[in-house]
Order: sequence, then structure tokens, then C-alpha cells
Amino acid sequence: MINVALDGPVGAGKSTVARECAKRLGFVYVDTGALYRSCALFCIRNNVEIDPGNEEKISEILNSDLDLEFDIVDGIQHVYVNGEDVSDQIRTREISKAASDISALPSVRRFLLDRQREIAAKNNVIMDGRDIGTVILPNADIKIFITARPEIRAKRRYDELKAKGHDVTLGEILVEVNKRDFNDTHRKEAPLVQAPDAILLDTSELTFEETVEGMIELIGSLTEYDK
Ligand code: DC
Repeated sequence: MINVALDGPVGAGKSTVARECAKRLGFVYVDTGALYRSCALFCIRNNVEIDPGNEEKISEILNSDLDLEFDIVDGIQHVYVNGEDVSDQIRTREISKAASDISALPSVRRFLLDRQREIAAKNNVIMDGRDIGTVILPNADIKIFITARPEIRAKRRYDELKAKGHDVTLGEILVEVNKRDFNDTHRKEAPLVQAPDAILLDTSELTFEETVEGMIELIGSLTEYDK
């Protein structure tokens, strides 16, 4: 199996780029953020406060009551919480914040570790996250760390939210992006960091198509994919 580890901060364009690359290469695109988001949604629905002081309770409820499934339907990833497709419900700003908080808890990361490795063992994947190259798939065939300047990432996220009809300002989104960057890079467990053997791809000045083509070229040249 060919495993592509793709990490980077919020709004770097990881998911849209990775989805398109996976489609062109015939790989499975795995958005691991959706798994953290699903755990956060599950806790919120069960009135379990997402707080480090509550980690034991969170771990207990995830391990005993949550059946988390992952599936690809027509090339699109779906996540299921106890049988219910929550792929849309996990895309709110409330869940973005809660997912960032819950992802700092070591027991939650452990809970999701084997699930991610199992998917990668069975499929050619582009797996997108924060610790894929460093923790989940340290032996990935290729590791790419994709980023862009914070103002550019905030603008992309702002455009996305506006297109969905959200009433937000660019300033608010920049604050949120910086906050999540801080959370993701400063947590003790598996912080967002570029793996030493990852290739850095800065998309600040690149169009979507340029980024996709750049990644496909990298994947083709550094894996067994086209041999
Ligand atoms: O990629 P995303 O925005 O959907 O991720 C939601 C949160 O989950 C993000 O703030 C950080 C966390 N996350 C993580 O810690 N590790 C991953 N592999 C993926 C996401």
C-alpha cells in the first residue's frame, strides 16, 4: 500500500487539495480531523464537558459508548457516530473549537490511533491531519507538510464560511485561526510539527491547480506509484 502523510495547519488547503489528488490518483482520501470532530460532537451531545480535568470521563464514554465508523461513498468520506452519518454536523465552528480542545487529550489520540493505522494498512491513502507523518504513519512512503501564511489561510476559511452563508468577519476568523494554530502546535501530545523528513509545500502564492499538480508530481516521483 502507498501511504502519503499530509500534515499542516488549519486553512492550508490540505483537505481540498488532498481530495483532488486522491481522486486523480485513485487513492483513498482520509480526513482524520473528521474523527476528532466526531468525538467532540459525541461528547457535546452527551453533555460531557471537553476539558482536560474531565479526561477520564471522556475516555470512558468514548471507549464504552461510541461506535465510530468511516466509509467512502462515491469518493467522499463519511463518518458515522453510532450509525448516524454526522459528516455535515461536524462542520460547525462550535465543533471546530471543540475538536481542537479534545484533540489535546492523550487518551483521545490513543483512541483514534489504531483506527487511522488500520485504514492506511488496507488502502493507498492520502491521510490528512496534524500528526500523520510524526506519529500515525512514521514510515509513510512520502510526507508532505503543507502550509500558507496565517492571513491567507484565514482569508480562505473566511471565503468558505461566507459561501456557506455564515455571518463572520475576516478579523474574527484570523483570531480563530491563530488560536487553533496555537492550540495545535503547543499541546503536549503529538503537537502539529513538520516531520524532519517531510517536504514543505507553502501554498501562499500557489493556485489550487498548481498545488494539486505539485503534489501529484511529488507523489509520483517519490513512491512506487507510477512504476
Ligand atoms: O483538520 P480539522 O480542522 O478538521 O481538525 C479539527 C481539529 O482536530 C484540529 O484543531 C486539530 C485536530 N486534529 C489533530 O489534532 N490531529 C489530526 N490528525 C487531525 C486533526
